[in-house]
Amino acid sequence: MLWKQFLVHSSFFTGIAVSASLSHVLHEKREIPLPHEGRRVHGDSIIPVRIGLKQTNLHTGYERLMDISHPSSPNYGKHLSKEEVHSIFSPAEETLETVKSWLLSSGTVSESDIIEYENKGWIAIDMPAKHAESLLGTTFYELEGSNGDVRIGCDEYYLPVHVSDHVDYIKPGVKLSPPLKKKKRSFGKRASRAGKASQGGHTLPHVQPPNDPSWALPPAAKGLPPALQNCGVNITPTCIKALYGLPDATHKQPENAMGLFETSDTFSQEDISLFFQHFATNVPADTKPKVISVDGGSAPVAPSSSLNGGESDIDLDLAISLIYPQSVTVYQVDDLPNSSGETNTTGFLNTFLDSVDGSYCSYSAYGITGDSPGIDASYPDSLPGGYKGKLECGTYELTRVVSISYGEAEVYLPKPYVERQCNEILKLGLQGHTILVASGDYGVASFPGSNGDEEGCLSTNTMNGTIYNPDYPAGCPYITAVGATRLYPNDTVHDPESAMQVNLTAFNIATGAGPTSEPYDFFATGGGFSNYFKPAFFQAEAVASYLEKDLPFQKLPYYEANADGTNIGENGGVYNRIGRGYPDVSANGAFLLTYVNQTQGTFFGTSLASPIFGAVVTLLNEERTAIGKGPIGFINPALYANPSVLNDITNGSNPNCGSEGFQASQGWDPVTGLGTPNYSRMREYFLSLP
Ligand SMILES: *[C@@H]1O[C@H](CO)[C@@H](O)[C@H](O)[C@H]1NC(C)=O
Ligand SMILES: *[C@@H]1O[C@H](CO)[C@@H](O)[C@H](O)[C@H]1NC(C)=O
Ligand SMILES: *[C@@H]1O[C@H](CO)[C@@H](O)[C@H](O)[C@H]1NC(C)=O
Ligand SMILES: *[C@@H]1O[C@H](CO)[C@@H](O)[C@H](O)[C@H]1NC(C)=O
Ligand SMILES: *[C@@H]1O[C@H](CO)[C@@H](O)[C@H](O)[C@H]1NC(C)=O
Ligand SMILES: *[C@@H]1O[C@H](CO)[C@@H](O)[C@H](O)[C@H]1NC(C)=O
Ligand SMILES: *[C@@H]1O[C@H](CO)[C@@H](O)[C@H](O)[C@H]1NC(C)=O
Ligand SMILES: *[C@@H]1O[C@H](CO)[C@@H](O)[C@H](O)[C@H]1NC(C)=O
Repeated sequence: MLWKQFLVHSSFFTGIAVSASLSHVLHEKREIPLPHEGRRVHGDSIIPVRIGLKQTNLHTGYERLMDISHPSSPNYGKHLSKEEVHSIFSPAEETLETVKSWLLSSGTVSESDIIEYENKGWIAIDMPAKHAESLLGTTFYELEGSNGDVRIGCDEYYLPVHVSDHVDYIKPGVKLSPPLKKKKRSFGKRASRAGKASQGGHTLPHVQPPNDPSWALPPAAKGLPPALQNCGVNITPTCIKALYGLPDATHKQPENAMGLFETSDTFSQEDISLFFQHFATNVPADTKPKVISVDGGSAPVAPSSSLNGGESDIDLDLAISLIYPQSVTVYQVDDLPNSSGETNTTGFLNTFLDSVDGSYCSYSAYGITGDSPGIDASYPDSLPGGYKGKLECGTYELTRVVSISYGEAEVYLPKPYVERQCNEILKLGLQGHTILVASGDYGVASFPGSNGDEEGCLSTNTMNGTIYNPDYPAGCPYITAVGATRLYPNDTVHDPESAMQVNLTAFNIATGAGPTSEPYDFFATGGGFSNYFKPAFFQAEAVASYLEKDLPFQKLPYYEANADGTNIGENGGVYNRIGRGYPDVSANGAFLLTYVNQTQGTFFGTSLASPIFGAVVTLLNEERTAIGKGPIGFINPALYANPSVLNDITNGSNPNCGSEGFQASQGWDPVTGLGTPNYSRMREYFLSLP
């Protein structure tokens, strides 16, 4: 923020813009000049020049990931160490030297002015604007936003030919400096996926599940064991095991503990114990997860705590009951809800990623180094109750599988921020981690209230809340996004599932729990197309073939997102037809009867699906470990190459934003992805891979 104090002294200044010499080349140019109204930055103002060095491996990262994750590659499963990944993504020594000697030869920069960031991705120099202008052959202007933000930037800049090849880009430049004052967003960050549908009386031991009174035993269920007769209205671990053919777990291998990301919401031991007593009697009631406190996060809480909203409880109910005796690790991230770690921030994964990969704390990519103040929590936190320690960097080991039941609208976050974070997820894939995320519960919208829209849809001047609002991190191509499926009341576990769609008001009225308020009353599995990312090569064919299908969604107008993702809704379009499609896979997310605050309630959502799929990957990893093989790691390329290991879900859709959304169909679709697990087929396939 160095330039802030100098900018206030800046005034209109007519200096000499240095024209580019023949040995210089245009490095970046804006298509439309800045609306700067001639407010040139004063020549003596100190501006923070940040030179992003070209990390050629940002572009080869994808090939490397395919090399170890694609089943046809001879190097499948040969994951890299943390150190190997770190060094691959640092720029070459030659790059650093070239840029430094150019700066020193200018005569205006001395060795001691140059700050190099730890991982060599970024060079920083604070210098008078006139020197920066001369170095870059440009003129810097300041721009004031309507909300008082001040940013600086230029229309174009030049670099010597031999330097240009080594520089990604320079800030401030065509990319403006960050704003001085950030506009507060209308909606915070986290979308808890738990749809709490009903909450009946108080706790009674061994009560029967409160089924929908209109429910009648499906004719086909008559011959089934009692525990499998009502899975269409009350999903249990027993039902899930039958649906997907999951074995009873037997392994307890410390290297295969399964991770759950939790933030703000916190589990209660009493609640999960009640779940085991009633619905997973193979799990001793006092079974506890291992809790890792990241930057002041703390767990568990008393059942009656306002932090116990159900999200963490259900994640743990499902993960533990499907993999026990294997253990579960909870990463409880960020300090208390009213601390700075939880307010005025729109990002939520960076502090977690910092804590499990120390190199990420200072990693530079896409013009950003380290966490983004104003987007991420920052530590130490001076607020009462805040975490007073330093930001945790590389303090903890990351489990092989991590499930994240949180998300937010992708457009809340600047594209470079999202790209840098998604690149970190790629790097974790290179190291053999499987990162899963719930794809959202509001169909083609994000969380209700997102972007100032009641349903969480996007708007332009001419379109009020009708544009689809894709979710993040589901839109990152290197994460495994998990959608939700359901059975209908007349179904048994042997019937095909449909996309999860449920009218919570209707369900609550039927079960006597009273209505749920709009717009939270209608759940539909989240899916669609990212505005920031294109389909990765391994997904491209699946997406292209969906887009050729004769389905109702073809009537929807669409647009093609530009490189900055700034033309959302162009020409009246409601979705980005060239985006990465999500989810990748799905699993059951309906009618989970469980206990929160020691009270029975039925839960819906992709929050259930993500830990279920994570448990499946954990079981497969255990079987691979038992025969001396490594973890599966990034699983998507193998699944897209061999989708028959999943049950294709072909019924249902994910409406919202005033239209029908997308339809499930044969093959991949942006509703249920490739489908739900068939464990025996997955086992055969993944055990055969090296
Ligand atoms: C999995 O697929 C096999 C056929 O490959 C089938 O026999 C089996 O019933 C399926 N299992 C489940 C749980 O759907
Ligand atoms: C939990 O239940 C108790 C007893 O029913 C109640 O007093 C308390 O307010 C509840 N807590 C929350 C956060 O709803
Ligand atoms: C946090 O702030 C909200 C409103 O801003 C308040 O209602 C709540 O009681 C606070 N919680 C704690 C734990 O301080
Ligand atoms: C959040 O931002 C508002 C307005 O800028 C400010 O008044 C408040 O103190 C901030 N809260 C925290 C916890 O930083
Ligand atoms: C958009 O629609 C909402 C609800 O339908 C309405 O409250 C709001 O005023 C509309 N906004 C504009 C700009 O028309
Ligand atoms: C339930 O399924 C059976 C076939 O298994 C069918 O005969 C019956 O009509 C269905 N009932 C309802 C209410 O859909
Ligand atoms: C949900 O069900 C309620 C009660 O039957 C009904 O009034 C409402 O229109 C339904 N909502 C949707 C979105 O279908
Ligand atoms: C298909 O999904 C629709 C909702 O989109 C549902 O009403 C219908 O019962 C489902 N059909 C089957 C066979 O599950």
